[in-house]
Amino acid sequence: MPCGATAPAENWRRAGRLLEQFSELRVRRKSTATRSILCFAALQVRPALCFVLALLAQKLCHLFVKCSRLDPVSHSSASPAPARAVKLAPSILSCDFSRLGEELQAIAGADWAHVDVMDGAFVPNISFGLPILAAARRASNLPMDVHLMIERPERYLRDFAEAGADSITVHVEATQHIHRAVQQIKELGKKAGVTLNPGTPLEAVRPLLADVDLVLVMSVNPGFGGQKFIPASTERVRTLRGWLDEVNPQAELQVDGGVTPANARLLAEAGATCLVAGSAVYGADGGAAGVQRLRDALA
Ligand code: DX5
Ligand code: ZN
Repeated sequence: MPCGATAPAENWRRAGRLLEQFSELRVRRKSTATRSILCFAALQVRPALCFVLALLAQKLCHLFVKCSRLDPVSHSSASPAPARAVKLAPSILSCDFSRLGEELQAIAGADWAHVDVMDGAFVPNISFGLPILAAARRASNLPMDVHLMIERPERYLRDFAEAGADSITVHVEATQHIHRAVQQIKELGKKAGVTLNPGTPLEAVRPLLADVDLVLVMSVNPGFGGQKFIPASTERVRTLRGWLDEVNPQAELQVDGGVTPANARLLAEAGATCLVAGSAVYGADGGAAGVQRLRDALA
């Protein structure tokens, strides 16, 4: 294009188009484009120079476009959440134990039954133990997902396996030999899970990630149902999802405590593949409706 009276207007148009390209592509360095445009404005008195600058800016733009395609971080805010099927594991801790069989039938549409065992030592509450697990096993076809909140769980792993557990999850804080406990669970032919309290650094489970079938993020301090979800848990789920994807992408990433239809989707988007819920399932109008509400929230 020859340099003349119309060159500044044309440069503005080109600059505008560049800016549009930048914003459409969500390139982070928009400020670079803005600076180029200000440059054009300042140099309008020298149209030939402006034209050269416009060409340079366009080249730069193409370079940024290339970079943004190569760099997944540039697209992160626009990417859809990975599509993972999310399992539901209602906790029978919140059910009516005088009707255990019916309460288990009510959650037949769930994926697992979550069984919270508390010893009054590792956590400040006693729930139930082997006979209830064995009864639940007889009353339901759902896989029994046993969460042991007990000191030195290695003492009872065989008993829980024989009573009907399909997966057994142990706390890193509850034993000196967490890796041995994981090995023992697998030797018993069961899925092995590890978990950690909200105040325990995630690094405590990192060495185990390649060897487990399940990682459970406690999103309340264990011991009681009906507590409020701890918001920082979502970021912990996201971090663990990243770590698991590197070494063991098939492992389940479970969240337990204060899960409701209001936060279920957020947790799934952060990378959870299994949500435990007690009061949100059994607390209102029965287990079947509670499971359905969570399914709807995740749809
Ligand atoms: C807490 C238990 C949870 C609890 C979940 O120590 O591990 O499984 O029952 O109950 P809600 O969903 O009511 O927080
Ligand atoms: Zn639990």
